[in-house]
Formats: sequence, structure tokens, C-alpha cells
Amino acid sequence: MTTPTHSSRPSDRPLGVAAIGYAFMGKAHSNAWRNVASFFDVPAFEQKVLVGRDATQVADAAAKYGWAESATDWRSILERDDIDIVDICAPGWMHAEIAIAALEAGKHVLVEKPLANTIAEAEAMTVAAAAARGKGVQSMIGFNYRRVPALALAKELIAEGRLGTIRHIRAAYLQDWLADAESPMTWRLRKETAGSGALGDIASHAIDQVLYLLGDAVTEVTGRLHTFVSSRPGPDGPEDVTVDDAAWATLTLASGAIASVEVSRMATGQKNSLKLEIYGDKGSLLFDLEALNELGFLDATLPVREQGFRRILVNEPEHPYLEAWWPQGHIIGWEHTFTHQIRDFLTSISAGEAPSPSFEEGLNVQHILAAVEESAAAKSSLIQLNATTQTSIEGA
Ligand SMILES: NC(=O)c1ccc[n+]([C@@H]2O[C@H](COP(=O)([O-])OP(=O)(O)OC[C@H]3O[C@@H](n4cnc5c(N)ncnc54)[C@H](O)[C@@H]3O)[C@@H](O)[C@H]2O)c1
Repeated sequence: MTTPTHSSRPSDRPLGVAAIGYAFMGKAHSNAWRNVASFFDVPAFEQKVLVGRDATQVADAAAKYGWAESATDWRSILERDDIDIVDICAPGWMHAEIAIAALEAGKHVLVEKPLANTIAEAEAMTVAAAAARGKGVQSMIGFNYRRVPALALAKELIAEGRLGTIRHIRAAYLQDWLADAESPMTWRLRKETAGSGALGDIASHAIDQVLYLLGDAVTEVTGRLHTFVSSRPGPDGPEDVTVDDAAWATLTLASGAIASVEVSRMATGQKNSLKLEIYGDKGSLLFDLEALNELGFLDATLPVREQGFRRILVNEPEHPYLEAWWPQGHIIGWEHTFTHQIRDFLTSISAGEAPSPSFEEGLNVQHILAAVEESAAAKSSLIQLNATTQTSIEGA
């Protein structure tokens, strides 16, 4: 194990940041790193290195996205004393190897979701995160939808008891980028590189939201997976698709609430539709990512003649994260969730506190995803999840 470099950082030196990957998430995270200090009070940091595989392309991306340098070997950044934070925006099959090595080298780690492709990898990452945390080295998983102000407000309202006892929750995450049967193979359609399909990719977000909003644990799971197009054009001819195109699950929460989760990458016409509905005995909430500045709220404690869903425009300074942005009503977008994520991560690092969602929380989601697969393989039978498989920060 390498000696952590983190503790040797002079307190007046800005935190040095390296990001790995410069495509979809690499671009979204770079944008957040570039903008966060313009809006939020965060500790001083520098965008030091962007890492990719193609030297020319990563150099171009680094120049475009505000990184001082580029590199083609992620291991090289772990040897550098001027790098304190590693932001992993590479595909899931690389998460465990990079995150564990970075934590062992004393670097704070932010890793994209899902935590890993297998439970074994996720467990090893969680062990590494717990050991690093003991040395003041922090880690977080990028479930960025927790940083949508309307969903953070939803969590506050639920925690305040405004919905009373939650009875059930519906979570649907639907996309259509695979609706065309001729759409080509990618790493996302191979089990060895992606772990699973729509399940790990987008059900992980939906399940994290259920856990985050309700602050609850899952005790039982049923699942169903389906692959509608089993072969797609690859570079050398047709290739088998080895992951699911769509997934369905029901989750029993420890509180007794039930969640339904439905995800697809073949829902024709749905581009990136994340919808959440939460129903309690005193009220209900509705959220739609396509109108992410809004939260629907029905207060069932009002006289029935006055009830009805009201649209809260979540753009007031008193709403989560909004004070830092524009005057009220000047709406924000999807990319702001990543800026909020970086802000929360940096704030936790400077406070010496463990950020959330932790790797333990990411592992919890992996256990639920694995239970969905287990159920699907057993004709959707009910799978029990006990509390011991669901770790907490304290218990890790
Ligand atoms: N939070 C979200 O909303 C969200 C959305 C999309 C993807 N993701 C997650 O982000 C991660 C990356 O997904 P993506 O969509 O950005 O994938 P992508 O295919 O667009 O980009 C992957 C990047 O990883 C880089 N990479 C691959 N191997 C590498 C190596 N050996 N060394 C350095 N870089 C390497 C590639 O060059 C590329 O820049 C995945 O875990 C995915 O699940 C999260």
C-alpha cells in the first residue's frame, strides 16, 4: 500500500484534481469543476489533469474543458503528490481497480454510478473506502439526481412528515436510445463491461432515489429482466447482447412501504424520462426530470374541496442549492446537478466529513440490483434482503 499523500498536502496549496474519462460523464463533470467556484464557496482547487486513452483527443478535451494537462495512463496520476482528488468518469468495469488504487494512494475519490459491475468489486471498494476514511481520505458515488433541488426538497418534505406514512412510491426511468434494433453494439451492451443493462445503468439511479427520499432500507425484492433485441451490429459482424434492455422490480421497504421500479432503454419516444411519485396518507409528491425545476405536491390534510396537486416552482433562494444561482424563477438545468455534486464533495473534504452517497450506499444499491437479477432468474420469485447485507457507514 502506498503512503497517503493527502496528509502531506500543505494547507495553503489548492487541492489538485484529476478526472479519468472525457466523454459523456467526463464532459459533464468537467463542466461542474469549471463552474463550481463561480457560484459556491468551496475550498481552493485546481483542474490539474484529464486522463484518457488517445493522447491527441484527451489533450484536445483537456484544453477545451479547462484542465491544465492531459495524460494517457491513469496510474501515473496516483504517483503524483500534487493530485489530491480522483474523479472517475470511466466505464463501470474500471471503477474498482482505479478507485481502490486511488484510495490506497491517499486520494479522495468521486466515482460515477453504478459503483461497480459485481458485488465482489463493490465490496472491495467499500472496504478500501472505509480504510481510507479512517485516514481522512473521502469517497463518494455520483448519484447526481440527489442534487436536483426539487428532489432535495421532496426529501425534506418527506422527512418533515408532510406526506405522513408513505404507502407506495413509483419510480420509472425510461429512455429510447436502443429502440432501433440496428443501433450498434457498445460497452453498455456487454455483461463483461457493463455488468448489466438498463438495470445497472438507470435502475441504479431510480433505486437510489427510493432509498434517498424515504431514508429507508429494502427488505424484499422481485424482479424481471428482458432483452428485446438479442443481437446488434458490431465492428466485425453481429454480436450477442448479453444484458437486459428493460427491467422491472418491486421493493418492500423496512417501513412497510412498497416501491415499483420500471426502467427501459427501448421506450420509444422517452428520451431521458425519470419520473417519481410518492404517496403517503397525508399527501403526495410528483417529480418529472423533464420539468426538473418543479415539484408537484398534494396536501391531503387540507379540506377535500381545496385539495389538488400544486406546482411548486423550486427556484426560490430558500430551496436547496438555489441561493447560489440566479434570481428566483430563472430556472436551472440537468448539468447543475453535477455542479452541486462537486460542491458537496469538496465541502465534505474540507470539513473532514464523510460525503453521501458513500460507497456503502452504492453497495446497498448493488445488493438490490443483484436481488432483482436473482429474482428474474427464478421466475420473479420474492428475494429476501436482510439488514446485514445492507451496510451503513458506521457498520462498514
Ligand atoms: N450520473 C449520470 O447521470 C450518468 C450518465 C451516464 C453515464 N454515467 C456513468 O458514467 C460512467 C462513464 O459513462 P459515460 O457515459 O461517460 O461513458 P463514455 O463511453 O461516454 O465515456 C467513457 C470514458 O472513459 C474513458 N476510458 C475508457 N477506458 C479508459 C482507460 N483505460 N483510461 C482512461 N480513460 C478510459 C473513455 O476514453 C471515455 O472518455 C459509467 O459508470 C456510467 O454508468 C452516469
